[in-house]
Amino acid sequence: MDTLILGIESSCDETAAAVIKNGRYIMSNIISTQVDLHKRYGGVVPEIASRKHVELIIPVINQALDEAGVLLSEIDAIGVTYGPGLVGALLVGLTAGKAIAYTAKKPLIGVHHIEGHIAANYLQYPDLEPPFICLVASGGHSHIVHVKDYGEFEILGQTRDDAAGEAFDKISRAVGLGYPGGPLIDKYAQKGNSRAISFPRVYFDDGTLDFSFSGLKTAVLNYLNRLEQTGEAINIPDVAASFQQAVVDVLVKNTIAAAKKNNISKIALAGGVAANSQLRHDMKEIAGKQGIEVMYPGLILCTDNAAMIGCAAYYEYIKGKRAGMDLNAVPGLRLG
Ligand code: KG4
Ligand code: ZN
Repeated sequence: MDTLILGIESSCDETAAAVIKNGRYIMSNIISTQVDLHKRYGGVVPEIASRKHVELIIPVINQALDEAGVLLSEIDAIGVTYGPGLVGALLVGLTAGKAIAYTAKKPLIGVHHIEGHIAANYLQYPDLEPPFICLVASGGHSHIVHVKDYGEFEILGQTRDDAAGEAFDKISRAVGLGYPGGPLIDKYAQKGNSRAISFPRVYFDDGTLDFSFSGLKTAVLNYLNRLEQTGEAINIPDVAASFQQAVVDVLVKNTIAAAKKNNISKIALAGGVAANSQLRHDMKEIAGKQGIEVMYPGLILCTDNAAMIGCAAYYEYIKGKRAGMDLNAVPGLRLG
């Protein structure tokens, strides 16, 4: 007997719904992105995001069921992101999920957004099983996670200031490339020289594998200001490539150190920054030389989607976890 989960995601600027069979097979994966709406403001405007989610959530859920060719009555459980994220945005998907669960008499499962990002790897690699080390790098998070079992995590390192994706977005804005910054920096970096400018890499000598990207961001901004004052031309591809390399070097080094420290030979990447071509390349090459296998989801499963939420919900569902109708959005929800 197949288990069908309806996954719902609305934590930031993507309204998404998906149907997942037996935790690993994507029957549908609908994502309505609001990127064009937020572009003119240079970042996500929470109130606009919430309003758009309200407009889109039901059509997106209906489309996910239609494309999967299943009726709501055939769904076994509803999995919905309840944090972390923008509170207004989270509330839209959560309220829709609760309303559907209540009226259709289906179990409700609250999903941690980061747990969803990690689970994207299970969809990409149907044979992948814990334990593994996962680097979760997105617009709001940069975590090195020891995935010990389904739903069992230990955080081995995290950012002390900006998230990696946030740094990409800020630098992109500073060089005039716009929003969202990650894919644009990635694209321009391919035409630049990553050794053209020496930007700092921050490592902590207190035994942690934490990250810090705010000093790097300031160094890039100072560099841009200096050139502007002296009237020198800014080589955007070189700035993009040198900045990107500084971020990637730290992410790669700390993640491999986490794997070695814990004697684990599998690294998975997750979150929007896992779409970065340099990160994918360097992690695979450098970890590969040390006998560590590197995995990453396809591009569409790296950035926010509901398939990953349906997958994470499935593993909670088979463990018997259920949420009540009092489940609330938790913008600062922690993992582990
Ligand atoms: O996971 P995600 O869709 O949303 C959050 O949970 O935050 O991640 C979005 C972040 C943005 O900061 C975006 O600039 C970054 O992921 N991103 C990238 C790339 N594609 C998206 N960063 C670097 N390189 C990319 N190719
Ligand atoms: Zn995300």
